[in-house]
Amino acid sequence: MPQIGWYGLGSMGLAMASNLQRHVAAKKAISLIYSNRTMSRGSPLRALGAIPEPNFAKLVSQCGIIFTMVSNDSVLQSLLSTAMGSSQSLKDKIFVDCSTVHPETVRSAVSELKSKGASYVAAPVFGGNPIAVDGKLVFAIGGPKNATETVKPLIQDVMGRRVIDCGEDATKSSLLKIAGNIVTVNMMEAVGEAQVFAEKTGLGTGPMEELIGEAFGPVAGGYSKRLTTGAYAPPLDSRPGFGVSLAIKDARHAMSMAQEQGVELPGLELARANMEAARDYGGECLDSSTIYGTLRQKAGLEFWNEKSRKE
Ligand SMILES: NC(=O)c1ccc[n+]([C@@H]2O[C@H](COP(=O)([O-])OP(=O)(O)OC[C@H]3O[C@@H](n4cnc5c(N)ncnc54)[C@H](OP(=O)(O)O)[C@@H]3O)[C@@H](O)[C@H]2O)c1
Repeated sequence: MPQIGWYGLGSMGLAMASNLQRHVAAKKAISLIYSNRTMSRGSPLRALGAIPEPNFAKLVSQCGIIFTMVSNDSVLQSLLSTAMGSSQSLKDKIFVDCSTVHPETVRSAVSELKSKGASYVAAPVFGGNPIAVDGKLVFAIGGPKNATETVKPLIQDVMGRRVIDCGEDATKSSLLKIAGNIVTVNMMEAVGEAQVFAEKTGLGTGPMEELIGEAFGPVAGGYSKRLTTGAYAPPLDSRPGFGVSLAIKDARHAMSMAQEQGVELPGLELARANMEAARDYGGECLDSSTIYGTLRQKAGLEFWNEKSRKE
C-alpha cells in the first residue's frame, strides 16, 4: 500500500481521517501524513499516530494516494493547482476527493491530472459528522478502475458502510452526490416546517420528533434533533455540523444543472432561499438545518429556540 496523505480536517475530514489512521495503524502500515489550513485541528489525529505536514506540495511528494475533504470547488482547485504547479512528478499518484463539488470541477481535475500521469477518483459522501465518526458513511465512487479498486479497501468498513460504484466516469459520482443533496435539503425543509407547525399548534416538538424518527427514519429523526437540541444555531466558537454555506453551494450546483436541463426544483429553491435568509440574519456559524430559524420567524417566533445560541 502506498503512503497515504490527507488534506482537510473540518467537521467531516477529521472524523474520516481519524478512522483511516486507526485502520492503517491496526494493519501496521505506514501512518497517514496530514495537512490542513488550520494545522492545530490535527492534534487528535497526531495523537493517533498520524504525521503533520503543513506544506501540501511536500505532502503530495511523499504520498501515492492523496485524499482531500474540503469545503468547496475553489479550495479543491487551488490544492490541485499547488500539486500540479510544483516541479515534482505526479506520475501514478491517485488523488481522491471526498468533497461535494460540481461535475465540471471533476471533469477538469480528471483531465489535468491525466495529463500529468495521475488519476482522479471522485468519492463524495452521504451522512453527517456523527456518521463519519462511526465510519458508516455512504460513498459514491467514480474513476479509473485500477485506482478505485486500490482505494476501496481504504473506504469500505473503514470510513464507510457502503461504496456505490459509479463506474469509470468520475463526474457521475459527483452528479449522484448533487442529486442526493436535493433530497437532503428538501428533507430539512420538511422537518423544519413540521416542527414549527407542531410548536405553533400546541402539539409540541417532542411527540413530533418521536413520530419523525419512528415513521420517516433515522436521517429525518436526526434532522429533527438538530432543531430541538439547538444545533441548527450552535455557539459562535464552534463549527456547525454541516455549515449553511456548504448546503447553499450544493443547492446552487443542483439548480444550475437543473436549469441547463430544463428541470424545475421548486422545493430546493425554497429551501435555498430560507437558508440564505437565515445566513443573512445569523451569519456563517449556522448548520444547514437553520432553514428552521427562518421558518420560525415567518411564523412569528424568534429565530433562536430555547436550546440554540441567542444571537
Ligand atoms: N458536514 C456534512 O454533514 C457533510 C456531509 C456530506 C458532505 N459534506 C461535504 O464535505 C465537504 C467538507 O465538509 P465539512 O462539513 O467537513 O466542512 P468544514 O467543516 O467547513 O471544513 C472544511 C475544510 O476545508 C478547509 N478549507 C476551507 N476553506 C479553505 C481555504 N480557503 N483554503 C484551504 N482550506 C480551506 C477547512 O480548513 P480549516 O480547518 O482551516 O477551516 C477544512 O479543512 C464539503 O464539500 C461538504 O459540502 C459535508
